[in-house]
Amino acid sequence: MGIRLGIIGAGGIGQVHAKAAVAAGQTVVAVADVNREAAGRLAAMLDEMQPQERLAHGCLIHDSASLLLADDSIDAAIVCVPNRWHRELAIEAMQAGKDVLLEL
Ligand SMILES: NC(=O)c1ccc[n+]([C@@H]2O[C@H](COP(=O)([O-])OP(=O)(O)OC[C@H]3O[C@@H](n4cnc5c(N)ncnc54)[C@H](O)[C@@H]3O)[C@@H](O)[C@H]2O)c1
Repeated sequence: MGIRLGIIGAGGIGQVHAKAAVAAGQTVVAVADVNREAAGRLAAMLDEMQPQERLAHGCLIHDSASLLLADDSIDAAIVCVPNRWHRELAIEAMQAGKDVLLEL
């Protein structure tokens, strides 16, 4: 099972981080994006990549970071949104008790 991750931002970099996390044996349990279709596409890709025994009900889809961060079962968030949102979302994630990874 490894670390239970949530990915915030399902664009190009979100996909890169999602693939890297799965390849490293971690589990992406949820994806959030203000564009729900983008979140859905990445969640569907993750459902293909992750063994079902790791995530019986599939990767969750949220249309806001706050909903993902409210999930106590998530250990850490990877913030993959444009730079102008980094500070606000990283602080919100840490206040929710998550470890945070973000890249400029
Ligand atoms: N380290 C690197 O080499 C590197 C390279 C490229 C990008 N980045 C970082 O990744 C960021 C994203 O790049 P990208 O190419 O994936 O961009 P992108 O436009 O493909 O994806 C960004 C996604 O974030 C979503 N989003 C925007 N604001 C949001 C919010 N407040 N809450 C939830 N979702 C939100 C958008 O809907 C979009 O799907 C960059 O701004 C930069 O910070 C790092």
